[in-house]
This record gives sequence, structure tokens and C-alpha cells, in this order.
Amino acid sequence: MTVYLNGSYVERAAAKVPVDDRGFLFGDGVYEVTRAYDGVLFEWERHLRRLERGLEGLGISVAASVRDGLAEISERLLRENGLESGDATVYLQITRGVAQRTHYFPPPGTPPTVFLSASRLAVPDEIRSKGAAAIAIPDIRWGRCDLKTVNLLPNVLAKQQAVVAGAFEAILVRDGTVTEGASSNVLAVKDGVLRTHPLGPRILAGITRDVVFELAREAGISVAETPVTVAELSGVSELMITATTADVMPIVRLDGRPLGDGRPGPVATSLHTAFRARMERQCARAGAR
Ligand code: PDD
Repeated sequence: MTVYLNGSYVERAAAKVPVDDRGFLFGDGVYEVTRAYDGVLFEWERHLRRLERGLEGLGISVAASVRDGLAEISERLLRENGLESGDATVYLQITRGVAQRTHYFPPPGTPPTVFLSASRLAVPDEIRSKGAAAIAIPDIRWGRCDLKTVNLLPNVLAKQQAVVAGAFEAILVRDGTVTEGASSNVLAVKDGVLRTHPLGPRILAGITRDVVFELAREAGISVAETPVTVAELSGVSELMITATTADVMPIVRLDGRPLGDGRPGPVATSLHTAFRARMERQCARAGAR
């Protein structure tokens, strides 16, 4: 596989980051995972906007020429790695760069480290057809979960706990309400309304969440950015997660107990179908340009 690192396209095994990189030392950087279909990036502008917000939030400056080249680099990686058809993802990471270890920022002008790679996405359709299991655990993360930083230790621990429990995702709970998943947003259908946690510092503004909410509105489904409480959780008629790597995934078991009738519900199923159609249409149109 060919990856991109600081201006060069190199074999993955040959891509090396110095031990003084602040991403390695402090988790001092941001990342994006963008979906691609048939070699075309899906909702790239939204990913770029979120990345720019993250860079601004961390005070990492990136030259406009670098930022403006990210889509082209992504598309080249898709082409050069044989990902011009089907489902793929592009991983992008920008750190504050390489500098002598100090907690405070390195001198202005320290170039950020820019890394991108493209991979085949194994879409989890088999799990989706039966619905996935989840566990609910405390959300122990910091106060700026809206920034997509590479500081993912609480998410890593949460996901591992899910895997050990035989579950697909860990659903995070703070102050009695569901915030999001370890690497996804969480949506629930309760009394006919599709609900999710409002945007703000407690969750990541997921691109899939955004698109799915738009699709729900278009389909005439009532939506509300009202968090689901722990007390409500076991009584929801549907629970689902959204993420670039999973699309819309119905959750049918929580903490070992079935949710609803224990099968993927109609809202999750129709939203997934609509999401997939939108992605395929949008990417085909963009690819034809
Ligand atoms: N994670 N919330 C968290 C904490 C996430 O890590 C993610 C995605 C999402 C969903 O965002 P989006 O729909 O834009 O993918 C929500 C990516 C996929 C990851 O870390 O691999």
C-alpha cells in the first residue's frame, strides 16, 4: 500500500514518524476518517470543515496549500491502492509536528505532520442484517469531545470493554444521558420520534449523524436533538449507531438483554437504505464530472 507522509507518497512500511512527533508523545493532533465509494470521497466538504474546526480548536496551523490539497491526495491514494471501486475509507491525521518535548507549543513555524492512507472498508452488512449488541458504560472523556483528536484512550478502553463482552459498540453515558458511542453517534426511536444528543462539547458532530438526520426529515420522520436518558434506554423501540465505518447499524441487544423485539427495526432499516442510496448517487455523480 502507498501512503502519504509530509509531501511524499511512500510504501506504508517505509513511512516513518520521528519519536519526537507530538502525536506520539502527547496525542497532540486531529484526524478524520472519510468514506469513499467507487474512488470518490463522500461528503468531503463536511469532513474538511470539521477538520478545520479541530485544527483551530487545537491551535495547529496548516498552510492553505496543504489543506487545499487534501482531497486530491485522498483521491490519488484511492487510485494508487486499487480502491477505485466499492467501499473504502481514507484516514487523515495532522499533528503539531516534531519538536523537543515540552508541554507548551513548539516554536511557531514548526511544520505539522500530515499523514493520509486509504484502505478497503469491509462493510459490516452481515452484522447489520441481524442487528448488533452494545454495552452501556460511563463516559469518562474530557470536556471537548467535539474535537476529533487522536487522544482516544477512553474510546479505546470503552471499545475493548465492548469487544470483551462480545458487543459491537460501547454506548457512553454521562449524567444519566446517552452521549454517543466509543466511535459512533447513538440515535434512538422513542414514541415515534428519532432522538439523539444535541451537538456541543459532549459529542462529536458525526457526518453520518448529520446526513441521517437530513434523510429522516426528508422521509417525514419526527426528529429531535433531545438526549435519551438511561431510564428511557431499555424502553426505546429502536436503537442505532451511525459512523463512517458502519453507516446506520441497528442495536438489538443492550447489556445482554434484547431491545424492542430484538430485531432491526423499520426506522433503522429504512434510514440505512436511504443512506446507502444517497452515498452511491452522490459519489456516482461526482465521479462522472
Ligand atoms: N469515528 N463519535 C465518535 C467518538 C467517533 O469516533 C465517530 C467516528 C463518530 C461518528 O462520526 P462520523 O459519522 O463522522 O464517522 C462519532 C471514526 C469512524 C473512527 O474513529 O474510526
